[in-house]
Amino acid sequence: MSSGDVRLVRILLVGDPQCGKTSIILALVGEEFPLSVPPRAEEITIPGDVTPEKVPTHIVDFSSQEQDETTLSEEIVKANVVCVMYDVTFEGAFDRVVSYWLPLIRNSTAGGLPKPVILAGNKCDLPYPVETQAQRVQELLNKFTEIETGLESSAKDMHNVSELFYFAQKAVLHPTAPLYAPTSKQ
Ligand code: GTP
Ligand code: MG
Repeated sequence: MSSGDVRLVRILLVGDPQCGKTSIILALVGEEFPLSVPPRAEEITIPGDVTPEKVPTHIVDFSSQEQDETTLSEEIVKANVVCVMYDVTFEGAFDRVVSYWLPLIRNSTAGGLPKPVILAGNKCDLPYPVETQAQRVQELLNKFTEIETGLESSAKDMHNVSELFYFAQKAVLHPTAPLYAPTSKQ
């Protein structure tokens, strides 16, 4: 299937508890930072005519409070793109992206096409080590070619909120990673 055949984009948000997944979904929908959020947002569909790419888009939240790892793997398989979110202010959050989230996505889709990933460092309204973070993201982009885009976001300041979902749509509709890598002739 070429990307031109995509009729509906399914975006899944994953990441460690409390990094802001539910908040950013509700910030997108409500156009402001939600002061209180449930563990998991209802699955929402954004009609094609209000998305930049004109393709209807499902946004799916994940919560380890309500869902187990088997469900998580099934959701990863069903998604067209996965946003891996982490809290930029939490020392160790980035290591979890490398040691847990990216390998889990690879394992869940083993044997199939690589699942495009958008990496989102959230809560960038708070103080955090900006330069160290940028360097580590760059290293990760080189190592994990399934990461289409890395960005920093803030649900609180409404920074890169719509952009996160736009980049996710774009990763599905206009992928830059090779979907087919032919074996070179011996
Ligand atoms: P789980 O459902 O437990 O996995 O957490 P989650 O990733 O959905 O995080 P949630 O949206 O529940 O947010 C966790 C806490 O972080 C809440 O107190 C939010 O108000 C806060 N929060 C979320 N996004 C931001 C942000 O961009 N900046 C700041 N300062 N706080 C945020
Ligand atoms: Mg949540």
